[in-house]
Amino acid sequence: MQHCDNTRCNGLWRNASCLTTQLPGFNQKNARLEVGPAPYTAPAADQIVVRNRAVAVNPLDWIIQVAGTVAYRWLTYPTVLGSDTAGEVVEVGTAVTRFQVGDHVLGHAVGTDKDSNSAAEGTFQLYTVLLERMACPMPDSLSFQDAAVLPLAVSTAACALFQRDQLGLQHPTLSAEPTGQTVLIWGGSTSVGSNAIQLATAAGYQIITTASPHNFDYVRSLGATTVFDYQSPTVVADIIAELSGRTCAGAVAIGTTSAAACVKIIAACTGKKFVSLATPPASFAPLADGGRSRLTFARIMTQFVTKSVGLQFSSRVRRVRTKFIFGTTLKSNDVGTAIYRDFLPRALADGRYLAAPEPNVVGHGLHDVQRALDIQRKGVSAAKVIVTLD
Ligand SMILES: NC(=O)c1ccc[n+]([C@@H]2O[C@H](COP(=O)([O-])OP(=O)(O)OC[C@H]3O[C@@H](n4cnc5c(N)ncnc54)[C@H](OP(=O)(O)O)[C@@H]3O)[C@@H](O)[C@H]2O)c1
Repeated sequence: MQHCDNTRCNGLWRNASCLTTQLPGFNQKNARLEVGPAPYTAPAADQIVVRNRAVAVNPLDWIIQVAGTVAYRWLTYPTVLGSDTAGEVVEVGTAVTRFQVGDHVLGHAVGTDKDSNSAAEGTFQLYTVLLERMACPMPDSLSFQDAAVLPLAVSTAACALFQRDQLGLQHPTLSAEPTGQTVLIWGGSTSVGSNAIQLATAAGYQIITTASPHNFDYVRSLGATTVFDYQSPTVVADIIAELSGRTCAGAVAIGTTSAAACVKIIAACTGKKFVSLATPPASFAPLADGGRSRLTFARIMTQFVTKSVGLQFSSRVRRVRTKFIFGTTLKSNDVGTAIYRDFLPRALADGRYLAAPEPNVVGHGLHDVQRALDIQRKGVSAAKVIVTLD
């Protein structure tokens, strides 16, 4: 493991410390993140460069690490993972008017996207290149560690709720009129769910959600009107009963067991017959935890295919449409600007939008990021795993 200090070069901050990972073969020992040197990359016209002060860890990061042979296969290695950052702007592209050097921003980095495939756009390093339209100014009241909980979860929730190819709900505003419709958000205490509840509430919808009982007050504090325990044997019937007499605007399914349950509920209710799917149908976690054998891999892929086919069959029979969310697609449509430019800056500034879930700061410095991935993979409850980078 190698550690480099930042140096200054040609008037630019040179990024000399990054995390890289190698593509792990599924039958090989898991490749852990390493800290090493990386070049500073200047922004394109529509980009900014941020000196990261706090970064968050998402399931996506360890999924790519343990399942890189099937997930995000296009990535070239070594790469820099990480989607969520909060920090200071150090350089802006020539077309950027919304930000200046020194501004505090939070942003969703999209380096792992196929059309980016760019280590410079990962957040597990000191300097990250961000698309201007995927960044949001931070109010003074917000700390970096609080702000870093938001970006990917906000983006994923926004894609699910507002994109026309997903639920296509009306956009959030600071003073939304009630629509009289209800959205089901299965998995309200996840990071994505916490933000889906807030965004849909701000768009004028009532929210039915699920969580473990110890998180009932938490999801209600974000705006959920009714909450059910997703582990209850009667949860599907209970939610169908709760939705009786209401118009449902569709569902966002978060969590490995969520899709089948949401399809059954939406099929039984009046309203939009659509379920946005956030979670793959099988967990890749067993590939870490010493289970990187061909057998484990084959078992997971079999589950993946079987459950996907089962869900397709079940949703067709019930005439419910489903679609998987890709949490970065808003970068190329009107939802990105509706959230990161028009809604979130003011909603955060006036305290109507909360940085949720709570940050759980597990480390300080790039060397702690691998540990942070391990902690996230083992499971969190209404919390975001954060590493600060002072
Ligand atoms: N498609 C995309 O672009 C995209 C982007 C981001 C995330 N995701 C996926 O979205 C999911 C959530 O990600 P995240 O970062 O928000 O998760 P997270 O915060 O790590 O999720 C932790 C929460 O999951 C809840 N949970 C566990 N099992 C559940 C189940 N069966 N049903 C409902 N909730 C359950 C727990 O709730 P309690 O503690 O209350 O029990 C816990 O609070 C993951 O599957 C992730 O891979 C997809």
